[in-house]
Amino acid sequence: MAFERVGVVGLGTMGAGIAEVFARAGLRVIGVEADAEALARGRGHLERSTGKAVDKGKLAPGQRDEILGRITLTTSREDLRDVDLVVEAIPEILDYKIALFKDLDRICEPGTVLATNSSSLSVTAIAAATGRPGQVVGMHFFNPAPVMKLVEVVGTVVTAPGLVADVAALAGRLGKTAVAVGDRAGFVVNRLLLPYLNQAAVLMELGVAGRDDIDAAMKLGVGLPMGPFTLLDLIGLDTAYEVMGVLFDETRDRRHAPAPLLRELVTAGLLGRKSGRGFYGDPPREEPAKSRPATFGVTGAGGDGLAERLRAAGFKESEDPDVVLRLADRPVIEHAVRLPDPARMVGVHLVGDHVAELASTALTSEEAASAARDLVKIAGLTPVPCKDRAGFVVDALLFPYLNDAVRMHDSGYASIDDIDAAMRLGCGYPAGPFEMLESLGLAKVRDGLRALYTEYREPAFAPAPLLDQLVTAGVSRFPRP
Ligand code: CAA
Repeated sequence: MAFERVGVVGLGTMGAGIAEVFARAGLRVIGVEADAEALARGRGHLERSTGKAVDKGKLAPGQRDEILGRITLTTSREDLRDVDLVVEAIPEILDYKIALFKDLDRICEPGTVLATNSSSLSVTAIAAATGRPGQVVGMHFFNPAPVMKLVEVVGTVVTAPGLVADVAALAGRLGKTAVAVGDRAGFVVNRLLLPYLNQAAVLMELGVAGRDDIDAAMKLGVGLPMGPFTLLDLIGLDTAYEVMGVLFDETRDRRHAPAPLLRELVTAGLLGRKSGRGFYGDPPREEPAKSRPATFGVTGAGGDGLAERLRAAGFKESEDPDVVLRLADRPVIEHAVRLPDPARMVGVHLVGDHVAELASTALTSEEAASAARDLVKIAGLTPVPCKDRAGFVVDALLFPYLNDAVRMHDSGYASIDDIDAAMRLGCGYPAGPFEMLESLGLAKVRDGLRALYTEYREPAFAPAPLLDQLVTAGVSRFPRP
């Protein structure tokens, strides 16, 4: 099927990015917005994005003119009559989308393919509202659309044979990689990504760690391109809230209930980048690095490297130290209560080469916690202060995400390679979840999940049976066909 003329309805961040992607690939685009004001905003997105590319020398001014010249902007949906494909990118509310698709069905030629960029809503429900359910698919781009390489192409039980392959081929022509999936809430990426982002907001609300510390842990410790709160601001908190609601409606998994904090920020109009403020946007509060001398002790398996680092940074080990750093293997408090002065113990979990999570127990003194922060900073690590809770920050966010990926694959929804590719290309992750599982070690993740389950009694934290069985069998890689 040839796609040469496409329509894009909704020119917010995503729609404008999608229009740009089509125009860059040489297709003619009709961009539709509801009114003149919204259209002007859409034009602004397109001009800014291509303008930046010119400033960076990625695009010649003439090429930019050609790209913008391929895009016609209008407030009339009727102008979509003759296009081959329409991609819808309006707000994530099913009733709005259904009303739009009914209208597109009336306006467009019978052969026109209608696609939704929905992040999570039922493509089947949208298709069923039209007189051409076989011609309706999901075509889900990722923010920023000109940059992220993934397109999820969503087929339903009534999609015409061959259409998913045709739309996937179009994605290839746009320079994207398509992953074809069935119609489940959140598809692959949002089903795995959004619960993790939501859980980050829950951890913050529970006071396990702060915004900047959680972001630093995931970015510097795990190597993700952005921490969860920076990413929530990029996605838009209203979109994230709606997606979580859709996930919850389908799964009834209480982890998918939108974090109350999200609801509060959305109601306050703090939507993230698009409104200028979300989790971020208040003036940064940089804590100056202090260099208070402290003596230390290190206990627990694997602490030699840290002790060496601290000695190299000029700190003294002592039999009566200011702070005892305990490499944590189980709740830190269990170790602390055996010390003459439990107030001095801080749990440590080293994440990668750059981050040290520092867990304070109910008995840790503010002096010891602060001394631990100073020590690890001067030793060249980023401290992530947190509470003594199973998984601290990183494992509590990372392991359930990995477990969800195993369950997703085991349910037959998507292959290991597709899930890995989707997370790498859709979110810029350095590795997909199965690649991460295999490099961390299956047993380590399984044991970490058990600890999380024991602490929180959250059913979804119980290790996926497939993961558990592979560990029991002594296998270190997931079987691939
Ligand atoms: N539009 C166009 N190009 C953009 C852009 C935008 N909005 N933002 C960044 N870029 C380009 C930059 O121009 C730059 O291009 P060059 O390398 O050619 O110079 C490139 O992207 C990298 O940008 P920066 O150097 O400014 O910044 P960075 O290295 O920090 O990368 C990022 C920015 C690409 C956004 C990166 O941080 C990243 O990959 N973050 C993760 C984003 C993510 O997870 N997206 C998916 C969200 S989920 C979703 O969208 C689905 C949903 O339904 C909710």
